[in-house]
Amino acid sequence: MSLGTLTDRTILVTGGHGFLGSFVVEALRARGANRLLLPRHSELDLLDRDRVRQTLLAERPDAIIHLAAVVGGIGANRRHPGKFFYENLVMGVELLEAARLAGVGKIVTVGTICAYPKFTPVPFKEDDLWIGYPEETNAPYGIAKKALLVMGQAYRQEYGQNAVYLLPVNLYGPRDDFDPSTSHVIPALIRKMVDARRAGQPEVEVWGDGSPSREFLHARDAARGIVMALEGYDDPEPVNLGTSQEITIKDLAELIQRLTGYEGRLVWNPDQPNGQPRRCLDTSRAAERFGFRAEIGFEAGLRETIAWWESEGT
Ligand SMILES: NC(=O)c1ccc[n+]([C@@H]2O[C@H](COP(=O)([O-])OP(=O)(O)OC[C@H]3O[C@@H](n4cnc5c(N)ncnc54)[C@H](OP(=O)(O)O)[C@@H]3O)[C@@H](O)[C@H]2O)c1
Repeated sequence: MSLGTLTDRTILVTGGHGFLGSFVVEALRARGANRLLLPRHSELDLLDRDRVRQTLLAERPDAIIHLAAVVGGIGANRRHPGKFFYENLVMGVELLEAARLAGVGKIVTVGTICAYPKFTPVPFKEDDLWIGYPEETNAPYGIAKKALLVMGQAYRQEYGQNAVYLLPVNLYGPRDDFDPSTSHVIPALIRKMVDARRAGQPEVEVWGDGSPSREFLHARDAARGIVMALEGYDDPEPVNLGTSQEITIKDLAELIQRLTGYEGRLVWNPDQPNGQPRRCLDTSRAAERFGFRAEIGFEAGLRETIAWWESEGT
């Protein structure tokens, strides 16, 4: 069953107060959604099976966008592989089962590029998701989230559940997590360089050797893609959300250095892990199936993010 218009549909967004969630809520409202359920973690712990079932049976939403997750950069993934595996898996499992019991019409689960095998041929195609094991530092997180793809497909097959699965590439934008103990690479670099510029530090340490490549999608673009899939995509196959534009960490660090106006030296620390060697998505499926293409240019998006951090974040 396709959801069609969002007006007067009850839509539950898990993680709706998080970084990506804040943009998804904006995108939903822009598309006319006027009945949003946005429980905070403190109000509805998705690890609590009874509460999840009670809530869905009481509210009976027409659709769910599942964004809630425990997330972080390489450091956080290495410190908490058990938590990242357990919580990401169980949250999704309990939610999908409760949604089935409550007769929820559609579920959009947001996965992650960390689900891809370490040595996926570039650009990553959705059909290559299962050709190998993910990069070790983020495998527990990536596999837990990938299991939810299998669950959604199994529920579609057995119960006719309309479960859709999206794979966003690395996200960035205003309101991102800038806490150095959990942040991803872009906020980590922005914070280091802004702090160093303000303190007049002569050098900044950067993790790894700068050789890996990454692709980045502005969270506002990702949110638009998620809402487009909610409105117009009903197939079992997972779909990448990205830009298809690859940049090395070295080039990224130098770009952020230029945009933050930091004039010191970048010192690479090869003792710290690089993470996955390359990341770049084939984004043709999203364009073909529901017309999604990223719109925000990378340099413009970075400028916006840096401006937000300098004015509101610090
Ligand atoms: N950021 C990226 O680069 C990226 C890339 C690809 C995919 N994704 C996916 O996008 C989604 C959103 O990520 P994000 O970066 O926006 O993360 P985020 O800001 O940390 O948001 C995650 C949200 O989940 C909530 N949450 C965590 N555990 C919960 C629980 N047990 N019960 C209820 N809520 C819980 C958190 O609430 P509290 O903060 O109150 O705990 C938070 O609001 C995730 O599924 C992630 O895997 C993110």
